[in-house]
Amino acid sequence: MSVLEILTYPDPLLNEPAKPVESINSRIHRVIDDMAETMYQAPGVGLAATQAGINKCVIVFDPEADSEKQDFQVFINPKIIEFSGTTISENEGCLSVPDFRSDVERFERIVVEGLDMHGKNLKFEATGLLSVILQHEIDHLNGILFIDRISALKRQMYKRKRKKQLKDES
Ligand code: NI
Repeated sequence: MSVLEILTYPDPLLNEPAKPVESINSRIHRVIDDMAETMYQAPGVGLAATQAGINKCVIVFDPEADSEKQDFQVFINPKIIEFSGTTISENEGCLSVPDFRSDVERFERIVVEGLDMHGKNLKFEATGLLSVILQHEIDHLNGILFIDRISALKRQMYKRKRKKQLKDES
């Protein structure tokens, strides 16, 4: 297993929609292992392949990533097929959006359908934190960042701050 480099805003690859996985083979399993290791090392509660520059519809997540056992879940080609209600996810953050957090409006309840790592159909309902993580990671697969879901004013503020940060680093 190896830790992958996580792309950060404004890398244009983060805006590219990912392609569906057509065959679940050892290459995909390798990607999944690397993504999980990268997520725990970051640390984060979810990671989409897009964030590692891999153009495949794969996400890994673990709402309890800070606990000792590393019991992550995988979703291949996930799709939100039902959604209802709204909730505010407080202080949402993203490994690809350094040094910024914001409240984001999300659906309260979703039903997600896709495949597990063995290619078996997987469908479940999520609420609360899990629902927010899944919406966030599935957004990544569609080339959407959480800063695309906040007010234009806040987004501009972040973009300016990030520009300055990158300039200072160079
Ligand atoms: Ni993210």
